[in-house]
Amino acid sequence: MEEFVTVAKTSDVSPGHVKYVEVNGVAIALCHVDGQFFAVGNVCTHDGGPLSGGTLDDHAIECPRHGARFDIRSGKVICLPAPIPIPTYDVRVEGDVVKVKV
Ligand code: FES
Repeated sequence: MEEFVTVAKTSDVSPGHVKYVEVNGVAIALCHVDGQFFAVGNVCTHDGGPLSGGTLDDHAIECPRHGARFDIRSGKVICLPAPIPIPTYDVRVEGDVVKVKV
């Protein structure tokens, strides 16, 4: 059964930053934007670049390899060369911990 799993403390990820986490073997880029947290798949759909090593610009995450951009709210591609969206996962903040469900 799918459950929310604690992945970090809220203080572990500064606003505008990304942290690599794993839930049940799934690699996730945990993003912090203006007090809200978003979880997306860590693997770029272009050529497997690690999105947790990329940069955030508002709600867009940019792959560090060739610059594809995705909306972290929907997973949609904003900028090529990525061909398809990345998965997004439900996030819940409880007190000072961040939980993700895959
Ligand atoms: S691997 Fe991400 S843009 Fe190429």
